[in-house]
Amino acid sequence: MLKLKDPTLFRTENYINGEWKSTDHDQIEVINPSTGDAIAKVSDGKKADAALAVGFAAKAFRNWSRMPAKERANLLRKWYELILENAEDLGRLMTLEQGKPLAEAIGEIKYGAGFIEFYAEECKRVMGDIIPTIAADRRLMTYKQAIGVVGCITPWNFPNAMITRKAAPALAAGCTVVIKPDPGTPLSALALCELAERAGIPAGVLNVVAGSDSQGIGEVLTQHKDVAKFTFTGSTAVGKILMAQCATTVKKVSLELGGNAPFIVFDDADIDEAVTHCVATKFRNCGQTCVCTNRVYVQNTIAANFTAKLKTAITAMKVADGFEDGAVIGPLINRQAVEKMDTLLADALSKGAAIVIGGERHELGGCFYQPTLLTNITDDMLLANEEIFGPIAAVQTFATEEEVVNKANDTEFGLAAYFFTRDVGRVMRISENLEYGIVCSNSGVFSTEVAPFGGWKQSGIGSEGGKEGIADFYETKFHSMGGINV
Ligand code: SIN
Repeated sequence: MLKLKDPTLFRTENYINGEWKSTDHDQIEVINPSTGDAIAKVSDGKKADAALAVGFAAKAFRNWSRMPAKERANLLRKWYELILENAEDLGRLMTLEQGKPLAEAIGEIKYGAGFIEFYAEECKRVMGDIIPTIAADRRLMTYKQAIGVVGCITPWNFPNAMITRKAAPALAAGCTVVIKPDPGTPLSALALCELAERAGIPAGVLNVVAGSDSQGIGEVLTQHKDVAKFTFTGSTAVGKILMAQCATTVKKVSLELGGNAPFIVFDDADIDEAVTHCVATKFRNCGQTCVCTNRVYVQNTIAANFTAKLKTAITAMKVADGFEDGAVIGPLINRQAVEKMDTLLADALSKGAAIVIGGERHELGGCFYQPTLLTNITDDMLLANEEIFGPIAAVQTFATEEEVVNKANDTEFGLAAYFFTRDVGRVMRISENLEYGIVCSNSGVFSTEVAPFGGWKQSGIGSEGGKEGIADFYETKFHSMGGINV
C-alpha cells in the first residue's frame, strides 16, 4: 500500500537539533484508521526530550533571528520546493496515518506548502515605523524583532498544513520552533523535518518531539521560561487548559479551537450551488475539520427541495479506503470518533430527528461511518450544540432572517459561518451580523494562505494565514533616541 518514491521520507525518530533521536524507552504505534493495522513505531518523545529541544531551539535562535530575512526566505523557499517535489509521497504518508483520500491529502500538502511560500515572501515586508518626534533632539522609531522560541501543538486532522501554518511564519520571522504533532499522525511531521534538513534549515531551528505524553510535553511548551510564544490547534476544552498554563510565564498565546459552523440557505439562493458547497464543507476530511458545517439552516419554503438534492449529492459520494480510486469519504480517525457518531445520532433520534439517509456504521466496518442526513433537528440536540466532527449533516428550518441570525450566533463558538442568498444587501447585512471570524457568502471554500483564519469567542485567539499570521511572532520595540544635536 505504501509505495514511496523516496522511502527515506518515512522517518520514525524525533528530530531535535538537526539529529534524528530514537528513544530507548517506549514507542508510539501508529495505526492506519482505514484498516486498523499498525503501520509504524515512532520514538515516544518524553517531557525531557521536549525540554532538550527547547534548549537547542533557544541556542539556535541567536543566529537564526539575526540572519537577514532574505536569507531565511531563500531557505524556506527551498523547503517549499522540496515539499512540492515530494507532494505525492507526503500525501501517501498522510493517507496512511490519517485516512483522508489521497487526492485530498495531496491537496493538503499543497495548501500547507502555500504557507511556506507566502511567509518566505512576507517576512521581507515586515516594517517598523519612524514616528514624528516630540522633541528636536530626539528621534522615535519602532522595529520588529523575532519573539524567540515558539512551542506548537498540532492536531491529527491536518497533519501537514497545521504545522506549516504555524512553523512557516514563525521561522520566517526569525523564531525557532518546537512542535508536538498529534501522536496519531507523527509521520507527516517527521517527513517535513527530513525535507527541511535537505533544504538547509540549520540545526535547532525546527524541532519535532512526537510523544504520547501530551500533558507532560504540553507542560514544557506552555511553561518553559525559554518558550516565548505558544500556539495550539485543537479543542476548546484543551485550549483553555493550555492557555491557563501559559499564564504562569505570561506567554503570548494563539489558539485555533473548535467551531459550530452554521450553513444558512435563503429561499432566493441558487439551490444547486448551495447543495454542492454544503457537501464540500460538511464532508471535507470526513467531517473532521473545525470549519466543517455543523448546523444546516434552510428557509422553510425551500427545505423539501434542498433536502432532496442534498440526499442525492450525499448518495453519490464514494466511501472507501483513501488509496482507492474515487474515494471521497475515508474513515473516521478512531473508534472513539465512531462511538461519538453513535451517541450524537441516538440523542438526536430520541428527541425527534428523522434519518433521510445513512445513520449507521458503514458496512466497511472499523472506523467507517455512513454519510448521514438528518432532518427535524432542534436546538436541544447535542449535535446542534457541539462539534459533530464526523459525516452527519443536520438540517433545521427557519422562517426569517432575524430568527436565523440569532440562532446562528447562539453558541459560544465563532469560527466559520456560511450563507447563501442572491440579495446583495442581505449578503452585507448577514456578513456584518454574524459573530464569526470567517464568513463565507455563496461559497463553502475559503481556506488559503493569503487570508487570516481565526475564531471569535471561544473558537480562539489570534489568526493564522495572511499578514495577520506573522504579526504575533514579532515583538515591537520602541526606540527613543536622544542626544541628537540639530
Ligand atoms: C481546521 O479545521 O482546523 C483547519 C481547516 C482549514 O485550514 O481549512
